[in-house]
Amino acid sequence: METWLGITPVRVPTQTLVKINRLFLGEFIYMTAEQMSICVIGSGYVGLVAAVCFAEMGHSVVCVDNDEAKVKMLREGGVPIFEDHLEPMLAKHLGRGVEFTTDLAVAVERSAAVFIAVGTPQGDTGAADLSYVEAVVSEIARSICNLGSYKVIVEKSTVPVYTNEWIRRVMQRNGVDLSTFDVVSNPEFLREGTAVADFLHPDRIVVGANTERSALVLRNIYAPLTSGSYYSQPGALPGTCNARRPASILVTSAQSAEIIKHASNAFLALKISFINSVANLAEAVDADIEDIATGIGLDSRIGPKFLRASLGYGGSCFPKDVAAFHWVAQQQGLDFRLLQEVCKINETQRNVFFNKVLSALWTLRGKKLAALGLAFKCDTDDIRESPAIDVIRRFLEAGASVTAYDPAAMERSREVLAPSEKMVYAENAYSAAADADAVLILTDWKEFGQLDLVRLNQAVRFPILIDGRNLYKPQVMAEHGFTYISIGRSASYQAQQGRPRQLAI
Ligand code: UGA
Repeated sequence: METWLGITPVRVPTQTLVKINRLFLGEFIYMTAEQMSICVIGSGYVGLVAAVCFAEMGHSVVCVDNDEAKVKMLREGGVPIFEDHLEPMLAKHLGRGVEFTTDLAVAVERSAAVFIAVGTPQGDTGAADLSYVEAVVSEIARSICNLGSYKVIVEKSTVPVYTNEWIRRVMQRNGVDLSTFDVVSNPEFLREGTAVADFLHPDRIVVGANTERSALVLRNIYAPLTSGSYYSQPGALPGTCNARRPASILVTSAQSAEIIKHASNAFLALKISFINSVANLAEAVDADIEDIATGIGLDSRIGPKFLRASLGYGGSCFPKDVAAFHWVAQQQGLDFRLLQEVCKINETQRNVFFNKVLSALWTLRGKKLAALGLAFKCDTDDIRESPAIDVIRRFLEAGASVTAYDPAAMERSREVLAPSEKMVYAENAYSAAADADAVLILTDWKEFGQLDLVRLNQAVRFPILIDGRNLYKPQVMAEHGFTYISIGRSASYQAQQGRPRQLAI
């Protein structure tokens, strides 16, 4: 493609250009055919990934955060979270497509679309605490009430239904003319660990807009993905979408989009609680949950994903969103009991795991446990609501000592499980396992499924492995001399056939 005054134009399909011209004639300060001015408020997992990915899609982005230290770090190219592709992508666009500031007013003023991506933590009642959203909306309102130019305020944070309407009201109460803005819901479906790929290769983009005008702004923002133009650019991140099979967009009402987000997370959590319940049944009747999950997942109406039995789900989304969705139903006078069951089963699953360890070791006081995994899942350093952290706490309370190892989450874990004589952090899986009474697999890191079993067996005091993620085949573990206990499968007891062991005195 030829360059013009040193600028390489981005290929935009004619159809998109026509739409853009039709809407933005006379509003050219907001966008050119290729680029829109976007402000993202909040630089957490969702905000930071969105900001960097919008820049990758060719937009001009300013990301706002009130944490000065974080903004300084980001301005220097540092990334505060563990996320594949994020650091190099930030380096590629820093100072060109994306910049960081603490000045919300200036950032909002120069942007056509303002994405709100601040936290919505769980409040005491189960409802999402929307005070950060409200504070940000009031600040946006104060910054734009005298501008008069049209802007779209986009809720990207996970919020309950009708938040869209509340944002509109708060804007209005703060003196912003209703004709100068619209509020759109654009929920995010990215997973931690694969967030950048999920953003650029989405299963779907959902836009909840109650006006044509605002829907079109969002369609244009996502045009590089929905037209496929992004995927044919040199250096585009490869993934499931491509120029011939671009991302799809679903435009709904704001309320529907808000519910799509909550219902999606609730359904995925439900799938996990379902398979965990089936796993407990499978174990009771000597069946194998892995075969069962394969058999169920082969039905194209069900699908194979999110049917991995485990010690339960965790993270900053599922526990909070299932509770918040239940609260939403309650507010409408509906008893969505299924969601309560999903939570209850998930909590019970951690007890199931705890009891497996207890029955393998008889008593826990004075026992030395090797904990492989601290993060709530693999490929992240996030320990929020991590089942691993929860069960380690219980083992410590029961009098055991724990030596833990995680490839990414050790630093964060030290803040909640302080190192002590009883809580030790190891350099790798084998040193964690040294002299252990049992090894526990708590997080599904790939490397924990590829351990050198001979070396592991030599390291431990007793070859007992209790696997909360089903990373091994019982048969293989038996062949390596391990007593192997997992989820939803019969245990294999082979300890007596391992090398002779000397009991410590
Ligand atoms: C989840 C959703 O998958 C995303 O679509 C959504 O955007 C995100 O929440 C959010 O609302 O921000 P995430 O919390 O990053 O993403 O993690 P998941 O990959 O969904 O895993 C959640 C938990 O379920 C983890 O503890 C994981 O180990 C567990 N899990 C997952 C299972 O126990 N079994 C499975 O089969 C799958």
